[in-house]
Amino acid sequence: MKSPLFAVLVAGCAPSPADSDVGETDPNPTVEVTAETFGCITDMEPVRNYYATNLLGNIAETLEVAEDPSGKRFPAGTLIQLVPMEAMVKREAGFAAETDDWEFFFLSYSDGQTTIETRGADATNSFGDNCASCHAAVSDTRDWTCEDGNGCVDLNLTPEVIQALQQNDARCDE
Ligand code: HEC
Repeated sequence: MKSPLFAVLVAGCAPSPADSDVGETDPNPTVEVTAETFGCITDMEPVRNYYATNLLGNIAETLEVAEDPSGKRFPAGTLIQLVPMEAMVKREAGFAAETDDWEFFFLSYSDGQTTIETRGADATNSFGDNCASCHAAVSDTRDWTCEDGNGCVDLNLTPEVIQALQQNDARCDE
C-alpha cells in the first residue's frame, strides 16, 4: 500500500482535508456497543452497589467521577451496571441530547448469548418501566446515576438482593 505521504505528493500542493487528519487521534470516537460488549458484571470495577468500566479505556476518569458524582459528568465510554441485564453506557458527545449521551440497555442471556432487548431513550426493564424516565430525576445532580435515596423512584431492592443478583450473573460462569 502506498503511504499517505505519497498520496499527498502525487495530489500536488493542496492537501485534502483527510490528509491533515493523519496521525491525529479522534477527539470524539464512536462508542460502539453490541451484545458482545456485555460480559460478566463482576469483572468490572466495584463502586458501592454497582459495577463500572470504560469501553474507551478511560477507567481512571470514570472511577474519579463515580467517587464524587455530585454534578460531574462521566466520560464517554463509561459502562455502568447494577444488575446483570440492565446497563447504561455514556456514548460519544452528540449521541443523544435528551439523555446527555447516555444510552440505556435491557439485555437477556441464554445459550451463552447476550441479546439486546431494548436500547436507547425508549429502553424499558422487565416490568415495562422506562429506564430514562426514572433516572432523569438525577440528570443534573448526579449525571443520571440514581443510587439509593437521591430522588429516583425506589427499586425496593436491598443491597443483599442486589449482591445476590450480581453474584448469580450466568455470564460469569462462561
Ligand atoms: C423505577 C425506577 C427505575 C427504573 C425504571 C430503572 N431504574 Fe435503574 N436505578 C434506579 C434506582 C433507584 C437505582 C439505585 C438502586 C440502588 O443502588 O439501590 C438504579 C440503579 C441503576 C444503575 C446503577 C447506577 C445508578 O444509577 O445507581 C444502572 C446502571 C441502572 N439503574 C440502569 C437502568 C436501566 C438500564 C434501566 C432500564 C432497563 C433502569 N435502570 C430502570 C431506578 C430505576
